[in-house]
Amino acid sequence: MPNHADRQFGIEIVGIGAHTPDKMLTNKDLEGMMDTSDEWIQQRTGIKQRYKADHEHGETVLYLAKGALEKTLANAKMDPSELDLVILATMSQEMTCPPTACRLTAMVGAGNAGAFDFSAACCGFVFAMNTAYGLMQTGPYKNVAVIGADTLTQSVEFNTHGRAAAILFGDAAAGVILKRTEDKTKGLIAQAMHSDGTRWDDLYIPKTKYDLNESDREGNDQLCVLHMNGAGVFRFAVGTFPHVIGQTLEAAGITADDVDHFVCHQSNQRILQAAKERFGLPDEKLHVNIDRFGNTVAASVPLVLNDLREAGRIERGQKVMFVGFGGGLTWGTSLWQI
Ligand code: UT7
Repeated sequence: MPNHADRQFGIEIVGIGAHTPDKMLTNKDLEGMMDTSDEWIQQRTGIKQRYKADHEHGETVLYLAKGALEKTLANAKMDPSELDLVILATMSQEMTCPPTACRLTAMVGAGNAGAFDFSAACCGFVFAMNTAYGLMQTGPYKNVAVIGADTLTQSVEFNTHGRAAAILFGDAAAGVILKRTEDKTKGLIAQAMHSDGTRWDDLYIPKTKYDLNESDREGNDQLCVLHMNGAGVFRFAVGTFPHVIGQTLEAAGITADDVDHFVCHQSNQRILQAAKERFGLPDEKLHVNIDRFGNTVAASVPLVLNDLREAGRIERGQKVMFVGFGGGLTWGTSLWQI
């Protein structure tokens, strides 16, 4: 395993928290909106329900991120004024300008902490963890919040035409507080970040008609909704997801047995199952919560971490691998000794 005694500082995860909207949509609810069935959705995805933010009544991505950050700070027993930096991983930014993270930072009372939005679709939280670690090693940041928040239900069509995406996505926010520590054993052990922009249109939300790919110009030309090549993304994920886990284990010089938790993006139960089988992982090492939340994009990985915390399963000294894959296409990992 790489020797980290020479790292500048140890970095510890001192707080974990999550926030979901009030309104929940079950598969039965969706049956009333489109041609689908609870049986089809559960069999193909493992999803039973998901949460949907009520934008009209102010439940925006900013509101969800605020709820998550406040709960994460409370879990860390940290005052917001102690934060130096707030990174908000999202593809549901409220406006192009200002960065949603700036309003978030002001709303929780984090003063003039640095703040920026971070866009890497479903890999947002994982890539942001790697970025935060690097900034904390090289910059003056002692306490950093990394929040993943998304409201993709705003970008899908709740009708039969949009059903493949409408059943998949849910809204949520979750994250962590990272803190510098004297203990240099804590922090990032290995990481991977990859992309394939030639496959940009496997998952995309066109703003104008000029963004549409050639085949979508022929009729599937709705703007500001998610266009998804479901089967293509599925095949990509089943292949890439176990591969990048293997690559990271090798870089760290450890085996899957040495990792306590694989905290993975929840996009489809069958994709997670493929990774479990590839590494012979017991259920307790790869926690699944897609049945309760659906695919919550950048919130999905920290939502799993929050489940583990609530269940009392996160302990000091454990190794935790965060794993993401999604739009871009992007895929990657962040392996921590916590
Ligand atoms: O974070 C990354 C985000 N995206 C993903 O991870 C997506 C990955 N892909 C998937 O999870 C799966 O491809 C889906 C769940 C989206 C679709 O499952 P599938 O087993 O790949 O189905 P399919 O697209 O091959 O469609 C099979 C059939 C089609 O009908 P025909 O053409 O065989 O008659 C679809 O029209 O299932 C139909 N179908 C549905 N039926 C009932 C598609 N969506 C639905 C639905 N309810 N919601």
